[in-house]
Amino acid sequence: MSVRHFLEIDDLTPDELIAVLDASEKPHAPLLAGKGVALIFEKPSLRTRNSCEMAVVQLGGHPAAIFDAEVSLDRRESTEDVTRTLMGYYDAIAARVFEHAQLERMASVSSVPVINLLSDAGHPVQALADLLTIRQHVGALRGITIAWVGDFSNVARSLSLGAVALGTHVRLSCPPGYGPTNIDLDHVMSRAQHGATITVWPRPAEAVTGSHVVSTDAWYSMGQEDEREIRKRAFEGFRVDGALMAEAERGAIFLHCLPAHRGEEATSDVLDGPSSRIWPQAHNRMHTFRGLLAWLCA
Ligand code: CP
Ligand code: NVA
Repeated sequence: MSVRHFLEIDDLTPDELIAVLDASEKPHAPLLAGKGVALIFEKPSLRTRNSCEMAVVQLGGHPAAIFDAEVSLDRRESTEDVTRTLMGYYDAIAARVFEHAQLERMASVSSVPVINLLSDAGHPVQALADLLTIRQHVGALRGITIAWVGDFSNVARSLSLGAVALGTHVRLSCPPGYGPTNIDLDHVMSRAQHGATITVWPRPAEAVTGSHVVSTDAWYSMGQEDEREIRKRAFEGFRVDGALMAEAERGAIFLHCLPAHRGEEATSDVLDGPSSRIWPQAHNRMHTFRGLLAWLCA
């Protein structure tokens, strides 16, 4: 059987996605005893590095975090040669990269699973945690609605793909020029199950009305710091504050992948308020990475 990679959430079928979420809530056997997982980082990380390391430890394995200064993909040696070397030592290779194409090049030569820990295109391991948190704290995924306010970022793309695959409606409200392309929308809709839809709304309040989950991300992602001032002007009005949360369904929850820029994309009263589930969401990063590894390595 050919090796399975996890470069985007739609590398799993809807049934497989549910199996990974289920595995994330099960007791863990030492499936990785005597084995290791390489965790490569071209960009900074708090949650991803630490949650992934602890997930590997919980499966009895050895996590090896490797930083850009050591590995220097395509500068010290080619991405393909780094992959061919590491696949002889580790049972999976996970990487956070600037360009998604780096992950595709790794997967093209790798005999072990390659996992995306965030690229310019997607953040599928974050989406796993987001979906599990919604399932746990809203109680269901099928038939409910997520409102995404702000940048149609890597996080938004992966969450949208995962949500519609499980029958969740997605309502997006993004500033002009920072929303999904028609290609993005067609891609997401091609994965939709159980009548799920993805729709675009000019004003955040329109997207949030009737939603069970409100989520957002930083106005500028890692690598976009030069655009900070332009983006701050463009995103004014796309901030999740208490007044916007009040438009959502009664009991709606607030999610954020973190790190948060308090007062920019979300206010502290929302981040720290009764609707917020940002800490269970952050902690689910460990449980879902363990579930993913257990599923991929089983
Ligand atoms: N959400 C997330 O991926 O956080 P880090 O960048 O800290 O890993
Ligand atoms: N969109 C953000 C997510 C950080 C977890 C970034 O890429 O920097």
